[in-house]
Amino acid sequence: MKEFRKDDRMASLISANHYLLPVIHRFGIRLGFKNKTVAELCAKYKINSDFFIAIVNSFHNPNYFPEEKLLSFSPLLIIDYLKKTHRYFVRYSLPGIEKRLHQLQLSSPEGSHEMLSIENFYLEYKKKLLAHIADEEERVFPYIVGLISSPESIENKKLHLSFEEEHHNVDLEIDDLKNLLIKYTNPVYDELICNELLIEIFRFEKDIIDHARIEDNILIPQVNQIQNQR
Ligand SMILES: [Fe+2]
Ligand SMILES: [Fe+2]
Repeated sequence: MKEFRKDDRMASLISANHYLLPVIHRFGIRLGFKNKTVAELCAKYKINSDFFIAIVNSFHNPNYFPEEKLLSFSPLLIIDYLKKTHRYFVRYSLPGIEKRLHQLQLSSPEGSHEMLSIENFYLEYKKKLLAHIADEEERVFPYIVGLISSPESIENKKLHLSFEEEHHNVDLEIDDLKNLLIKYTNPVYDELICNELLIEIFRFEKDIIDHARIEDNILIPQVNQIQNQR
């Protein structure tokens, strides 16, 4: 699989993989790329182009994970990207899934218990995911920012951070949701809506796995390293 470089034209990244659209958007880069390269656009938007290209490549090719490279960036830069991704999940991905789920329910026979239980399953999932995101934003990220900006203030409050189990559970549940729809639900609803919903869920799943991987394999080891230096 091709590895993108900074002198590639931004438009060619989209042609190669249109799933990169939200990733690029997250960095604040707007469409209307003309023939500008990645490096040119990053300069225009004042974005660290090494970071941008590392994130884009690891999203594009799940087998390519430039761990060394990513570990070399400031945790603040990584947190900023993670927060933008959270915002995208909360404001766009989850409402999108929810909307289609609701359409699907409306397209099925009135009072369909299956559809109601799927919707309830999803709402439970969403609640857990939002709680997880809130914990990161309100407790974990501020702790890390504090650790970097004024280490003395958190001298005696070493947090032991690990998200792996929670991430794993979130992954399992999204998998369950897919399986309910693909394998176990009686297809008495509008299948085109269901297909759209599944495509949306698959897209979200890819995004969230990529996100969790950056937290588990980059951010947490960085924090452990800073804590151990002290
Ligand atoms: Fe997160
Ligand atoms: Fe997380």
